[in-house]
Amino acid sequence: MKDLIKIAMEYKEKAYVPYSNFRVGAAVRFDSGNIYGGCNIENVSFGATNCAERTAIFSGVKEGEKVISEIAIVADSEELIAPCGICRQVIVEFCSKDSKIILAKNEEEYIIKTIEEIMPGAFTKDFLK
Ligand code: THU
Repeated sequence: MKDLIKIAMEYKEKAYVPYSNFRVGAAVRFDSGNIYGGCNIENVSFGATNCAERTAIFSGVKEGEKVISEIAIVADSEELIAPCGICRQVIVEFCSKDSKIILAKNEEEYIIKTIEEIMPGAFTKDFLK
């Protein structure tokens, strides 16, 4: 878990944030054991911004990954970051009920949440059956 937080912190350094100056890093371990990192990537057309969580998750999914075991998220903040609603919905798509969502300040200070805790009553693929 600390390894994942460390990678998220490394990816935070890569953030492209000329508009908010708020850097976010994420690292995802999929059930394969493979790890992918990501950062937020902003755009002058603000709605085109991609959050760190989605950058990391999509990096894995494009390689064939499907199930998140753990995702660690760190930010330029005194508080533990709360993933945005769009990212929560993307985590819903690729998580299991046991996936660990690690909200971290650093390798020593973090909390672990489940998807049910951060996205109760989510719209899931089960609704489409
Ligand atoms: N941001 C993330 O990368 N992840 C989140 O969960 C919340 C927000 C980014 C988007 C934008 O680049 C900056 O933080 C400020 O909103």
